[in-house]
Amino acid sequence: MMLENINSGYKPVFLILCCIQPPPAKYGGRHTVTLIPGDGIGPELLSHVREVFRFSCVPVDFEVVHVNSALETEDDINNAITAIRRNGVALKGNIETKHTMAPSVKSRNNLLRTSLDLYANVMHCQSLPGVQTRHKNIDIIIIRENTEGEYSSLEHENVPGVVESLKIITRNNSLRIAEYAFKLAREKGRHRVTAVHKANIMKLADGLFLQCCREVAAGYPDITFDSMIVDNTTMQLVSKPQQFDVMVMPNLYGNVVSNVCAGLVGGPGLVPGANYGRDYAVFETATRNTGKSIAGKNIANPTAVLLASCMMLDHLKLYDYANLIRNGVLTTMNETRLHTADLGGQGTTSEVVQSVMKIIQSKGQHTSDI
Ligand SMILES: *[C@@H]1O[C@H](CO)[C@@H](O)[C@H](O)[C@H]1NC(C)=O
Ligand SMILES: *[C@@H]1O[C@H](CO)[C@@H](O)[C@H](O)[C@H]1NC(C)=O
Ligand SMILES: *[C@@H]1O[C@H](CO)[C@@H](O)[C@H](O)[C@H]1NC(C)=O
Repeated sequence: MMLENINSGYKPVFLILCCIQPPPAKYGGRHTVTLIPGDGIGPELLSHVREVFRFSCVPVDFEVVHVNSALETEDDINNAITAIRRNGVALKGNIETKHTMAPSVKSRNNLLRTSLDLYANVMHCQSLPGVQTRHKNIDIIIIRENTEGEYSSLEHENVPGVVESLKIITRNNSLRIAEYAFKLAREKGRHRVTAVHKANIMKLADGLFLQCCREVAAGYPDITFDSMIVDNTTMQLVSKPQQFDVMVMPNLYGNVVSNVCAGLVGGPGLVPGANYGRDYAVFETATRNTGKSIAGKNIANPTAVLLASCMMLDHLKLYDYANLIRNGVLTTMNETRLHTADLGGQGTTSEVVQSVMKIIQSKGQHTSDI
């Protein structure tokens, strides 16, 4: 395929994808959300979210769906997917993917994202008050294509000793993720979108991605568009992260770059992530790890999961509750003595959660006046 042929005739048809409507509230303004506890620290952190929601009288009911990652069948994850189709929204812990399992066993997390066509992964990486980091004033929105690229799960070994792993880049999916990025940038009053790529090597695949970003950029003259090769991007990030505003990229670069960014602002315990599609939205931590080694010890940092739950409340348009809980979390973060071990402190998970609830209570709004 020649690039010239693939790229012709872009029309901006993906205009309403960014602000998908949340499902309407049922039964006296209450929402039902699917809750997948996941593995590692997922179950304990999500039970803290429920505790904070109950305390704050958030009008959300959770439908809990367990996914057993030790099973090779896909029944559990299919049940979870059905539940999300019903409720429209989910909050999840990470489900472990053992790479020792047969190659035919796909990542449950990946199956969930592709089955529900959650094509946009969004992570907001921001320096937090009270957290000591090498770099200050970081405020980057990362938009990652979430359904194709290197995550196609299409690998084969036709000749022994030679493995081919297919990276799929399509014009349609590249256009819609670029459209999502520019639309979000405009909505959030951002000024610049940077496409991250490796088109000097993958001339066709990343070339197409880059070309699609350029075409979409033409429809947003108010927003500056530029591009950066992925290796330079990671170097620029660790030396001068403040230069970035909104970033858009294919799947695997998104995985690497979002982890670099999480590290820059204090680590995996701090940053929330969201996966949006046209019909569904799933919220989780930005870095997709289970934290197995610290599970059950009451030492995991609950910040990322609590902030993910606030993103979910924003999605449900429960802005007051989102702001109330977010304020509690951020004010607590600013109290160095409550920091958990990942930030060099001695605070426990429950102490942090207690503090969040105390601040919520001090706002005096957790009852009926919201
Ligand atoms: C791309 O999207 C257009 C418009 O929605 C659709 O008609 C077309 O079939 C899609 N192409 C592919 C290859 O999926
Ligand atoms: C890397 O990015 C910086 C900042 O945009 C730019 O000045 C520099 O030329 C780039 N370096 C390479 C090798 O592309
Ligand atoms: C964080 O705490 C410092 C020192 O107590 C205070 O000056 C600052 O305003 C606080 N920031 C936020 C965002 O609460």
